[in-house]
Amino acid sequence: MDELDAILQQRQSNMTGLTGKTIVLGVTGGIAAYKAAELVRLFVKAGATVHVAMTESATRFVTPLTFQALSGNTVWVDQWDTRMSNGMAHINLTRQADLTVVAPATANFIAKLAHGNADDLLSTLCLARDCPLLVAPAMNRQMWSNAATQRNIAQIRADGIDILGPDSGEQACGETGEGRMLEAAEICAAVVAYFQPKLLAGRRVLMTAGPTFEALDPVRGLTNLSSGKMGFALAQACANAGAAVTLVSGPVSQATPIGVARINVQSAMQMREAVLKEAPRSDIFIGVAAVADYRPATTAVDKIKKSGETLSVEFIRNPDILAEVAALPSAPFCVGFAAESRDLDTYAQGKLVAKKLQLVVGNLVQDGMGGDTNTVVLFDATGRHPLPTSSKEELARDIVAHLSSLLS
Ligand code: C5P
Repeated sequence: MDELDAILQQRQSNMTGLTGKTIVLGVTGGIAAYKAAELVRLFVKAGATVHVAMTESATRFVTPLTFQALSGNTVWVDQWDTRMSNGMAHINLTRQADLTVVAPATANFIAKLAHGNADDLLSTLCLARDCPLLVAPAMNRQMWSNAATQRNIAQIRADGIDILGPDSGEQACGETGEGRMLEAAEICAAVVAYFQPKLLAGRRVLMTAGPTFEALDPVRGLTNLSSGKMGFALAQACANAGAAVTLVSGPVSQATPIGVARINVQSAMQMREAVLKEAPRSDIFIGVAAVADYRPATTAVDKIKKSGETLSVEFIRNPDILAEVAALPSAPFCVGFAAESRDLDTYAQGKLVAKKLQLVVGNLVQDGMGGDTNTVVLFDATGRHPLPTSSKEELARDIVAHLSSLLS
């Protein structure tokens, strides 16, 4: 089997992050139960089979029918339900599951988990499970900060249960503080991350992403159409693979990937400064940013007023951040990107050699920048490795897999 076949086969088993996975979603009685409906939709969209188990009080907020319609599976509430042939829903459900997630998890349910209570189907199922358990707390800020809750959280964490969130912000009760459940998309992303092989465990990854903004005056400047999507997807994939990731980002509207430390910059010079500061403690540097090749020689202190028919601006060359990092005495493993409009192989191979990189991710820019999918070819010392056209998230996982194979 050649390398492309291997990647395609791996892709099929990892098509959308949760393909082939079975998840038991426990829903307990808090207002955030409405977010659990969206969570089921996202799990299913990512390829998972979902079985929902609700507490009696959860059914006061959202009906079992909602979860049944979204999951396409029977919803379980009653521990005395006779629909399971052996009458043992609490055992059977988790025996087929890869993961149990309780979202939202109320203070009461967390207390039950901490003490091993089993007085309804969901708590019994959690006690009888033989798969990992992730819990997303959701409660009023006072309930969350209460010493009893904090004691219970510490206990369940010590018992090996992973806690997702909670977030802080505006609460359904009108108060503001910590205790709000994470958004469904954040929980789904954390679950996808949970299943990723930890190919970069213990590695420190430094990355750049997005465009740079080169100021002409206080209100204007030069930038480009880089959306930052590829860089942010790659940062998330590296974090999901177990790396400690620092992302130096130009101005973009992307949400910070979960578990990634983000440093915001504007210009190429600021990006260079941030990167050179972090580079000595990095094992891998990935330059995804579309760094401006030139910047205005001077930045006007005041807004430039119109006068005359033409305006001349002098530009000076920006330093090449990637080449500079690759030339450091104990340089990290360096990965570059090459977006070309023609002669991809020649230019990408050229960059590999000229900038002294270990890997170049090349693509032909045909439909402009900012799309959700891409077609890339990986170039390394052994040659060219084309990847199938796919979403930037899937490409990011493939790039991480290839990168980790080169590291080892
Ligand atoms: O030479 P070119 O700009 O095409 O190289 C692209 C690669 O180099 C990308 O990985 C980009 O992030 C990086 N680069 C850089 N600093 C620059 C220009 C490009 O780090 N000034």
